[in-house]
Amino acid sequence: IDDDTPPLTLRERSLTAVADFIKSGKARRIVVMTGAGISTAAGIPDFRSPTTGLYANLSALNLPEPEAVFDLSFFRQNPQPFYVLARELYPGARYRPTVSHAFLALLARRGLLHMLFTQNIDCLERAAGVPAEKIVEAHGSFAGQRCIDWGGGDGAEEGEGEVCGGLVKPDIVFFGEALPRAFFELSPMTKEADLVLVMGTSLQVHPFAGLPNMAEEETPRVLFNLEQVGSFGTRADDVMVLGDCDAGVRKLAEEIGWKDELEKAWREL
Ligand code: APR
Repeated sequence: IDDDTPPLTLRERSLTAVADFIKSGKARRIVVMTGAGISTAAGIPDFRSPTTGLYANLSALNLPEPEAVFDLSFFRQNPQPFYVLARELYPGARYRPTVSHAFLALLARRGLLHMLFTQNIDCLERAAGVPAEKIVEAHGSFAGQRCIDWGGGDGAEEGEGEVCGGLVKPDIVFFGEALPRAFFELSPMTKEADLVLVMGTSLQVHPFAGLPNMAEEETPRVLFNLEQVGSFGTRADDVMVLGDCDAGVRKLAEEIGWKDELEKAWREL
């Protein structure tokens, strides 16, 4: 690969071209955006897949509409459905990171991960070994919790002792709530990316869904997803690897020459 390697556009926009780009050492600041699709292989349902998605399976909770389970005003009047779901979703040690999570940790270990923006609340990126300072949990996580009335952590945690009797909610961003400040402060890092990977997301929820469009025009964007989503396909350097994200990531790792390293890292999780 010589220095005037044409960008992906001038060559077929394929996984091989992406692998060559990474092998050339030109991709040093990779920004990644992930969604629930990278955790389905771990046994955590995503939200919008037609039959297996969470929103298709909440009918037992007779919600006004599925998203109500993450709606703050609904939660105030009836927190039960969320608590039922939280027991389902709570990461704990029950779930093992997927090959896709292991790949992100490998990028970080090789010093190539500029930043990972995730919509997931399962903390599997951390469990896979991605350093906390390289992760922006745009929709929060179970890592912390607080009373929705006065915003403090629950009494015991804050040492106040008394509990105000308000509802305690994990620091998951509900519809109608602002995303963490870190998201807005760090999202401009997408402009610094020399490669953007988007994995396992329907890109339906803003402002997160606007992230891939923040990449510079000449920055290749690669989608690992069962289906085409967002603005993918509208830019010259978009590459779409449609199908299971673990299979796509395995193929990319193999073409780069990281197959054994990835499989070993994943086996050790
Ligand atoms: N491989 C590749 N893609 C997959 C896989 C897989 N194994 N499994 C699912 N997908 C794809 C689905 O086809 C879909 O396009 O991942 C995407 C998951 O989309 P959603 O279920 O909408 O999840 P996500 O995009 O993370 O949702 C965003 O919505 O409800 C809110 O706050 C919640 O963070 C969540 C946000």
